[in-house]
Order: sequence, then C-alpha cells, then structure tokens
Amino acid sequence: LCKNEPRASVQGSLLLAGSEAGDTLEYNPNLLDDPQWPCGKHKRVLIFASYMTTVIEYVKPSDLKKDMNETFREKFPHIRLTLSKIRSLKREMRNLSEECSLEPVTVSMAYVYFEKLVLQGKLNKQNRKLCAGACVLLAAKISSDLRKNEVKQLIDKLEERFRFNRRDLIGFEFTVLVALELALYLPENQVLPHYRRLTQQF
Ligand SMILES: *[C@@H]1O[C@H](CO)[C@@H](O)[C@H](O)[C@H]1NC(C)=O
Ligand SMILES: *[C@@H]1O[C@H](CO)[C@@H](O)[C@H](O)[C@H]1NC(C)=O
Repeated sequence: LCKNEPRASVQGSLLLAGSEAGDTLEYNPNLLDDPQWPCGKHKRVLIFASYMTTVIEYVKPSDLKKDMNETFREKFPHIRLTLSKIRSLKREMRNLSEECSLEPVTVSMAYVYFEKLVLQGKLNKQNRKLCAGACVLLAAKISSDLRKNEVKQLIDKLEERFRFNRRDLIGFEFTVLVALELALYLPENQVLPHYRRLTQQF
C-alpha cells in the first residue's frame, strides 16, 4: 500500500501501515491540537548551551493559515481534509454536545474516535460529517446513561446540525465501530489531554 503512495512522508506511511497491521502505532492525543502547528516553517529553533528555545517570526495571519494547511498536507498526505476543516468539525462536535448537555468527558471520547479515523486517512469530503456525528453518538452511548428520549434528542440535533439523514447516521455508526475495531473503551491517557483542553476552555 505504501509503495503506491509516492508522496507519503515517513510518518504518513507509518500511520497507514499501523492501521493495517493492527495497533502498532500509538495514537497521540496531542498531535492534531498541537498549538505549534500553525507556525509551521516560520518557526526557528535556537539551541543554546543549556536550553532550547523557539522563536516565531512575525507572519501575516493569512500566510499563517496557508502555511498551516500546507504543512499539514505535507506531513500527512494520506489525510484528505485540511487541518482547518478538521478543527472546525471538532468545534461543531463540541458545540452541539454542549447544547445536548453532554459532559466534557463524552466530547473528549468523541474526539479520540474522530481523530483516530482522521489519522487513519478514513475521512473524505463525503463522509466527514457522518463520521463526526457517529463519533459523538457512540461516545454518548458508551459514556452517558442516556434515556431513550435523550438519544432521540441527540440524533435530532446531529441531523439538524450536520444535515444528514438519521438512517445514514445509524448505518455509519456501525462502520465507525468496525473502523475503531470495537475499541470504544479508551485508556485514560488518550482521553485526558482532550478533557484538560476542553475544561480549560469553559
Ligand atoms: C485552509 O483550509 C481552510 C479549510 O479548508 C480553508 O478555508 C482555507 O482557505 C485554507 N487556507 C489556505 C490559505 O489555503
Ligand atoms: C453553538 O454555536 C452557536 C452558533 O455559532 C452559538 O450561538 C451557540 O452559543 C453555541 N453553543 C454553545 C453551547 O457553545
């Protein structure tokens, strides 16, 4: 598979190989939220005798944004969405979860599911909203003690926000479950970094 991906960077290839060979590559919960990303190639690292420091040159906001998408694409050529798009989908996931009174831990779990699919290169323009929606739904079911009408309310909200049909969502829920190899219960070290960032923002 990797041989057919001439542009794939080493890291990209490893991620693809990892998702094929099981779970050989650890999921990194800090990768996609890394605040250093937008700086990309404008970043300079200066090494002094006893410490290391990073100097960020001044760049126009528009250049910064362009650079961020480009750096991301170079590093992860197998991911077919821009970093901005991935982040805006996550904001939507958080926003609607809050409106449905889901806990930050639920949002954190949904983020982990979602980012794993992103990093596996499974998302594209067509399925990205269904993916985001299915991740929220699965996280809500596994982490909250939802009543039947609350599940219905959440599905209504997902349908309204992401503009898909609930039948497609229910079908996609299973697809996502399989892609995640049924691993819905997550180790704390994958969830906690997201939880910390989310609760700091409240
Ligand atoms: C970066 O990606 C976002 C989302 O697709 C897009 O709106 C924006 O125009 C992109 N920026 C550049 C400069 O390519
Ligand atoms: C969700 O987004 C809408 C529109 O941007 C905003 O009005 C609303 O306050 C947000 N809700 C939460 C809980 O952040």
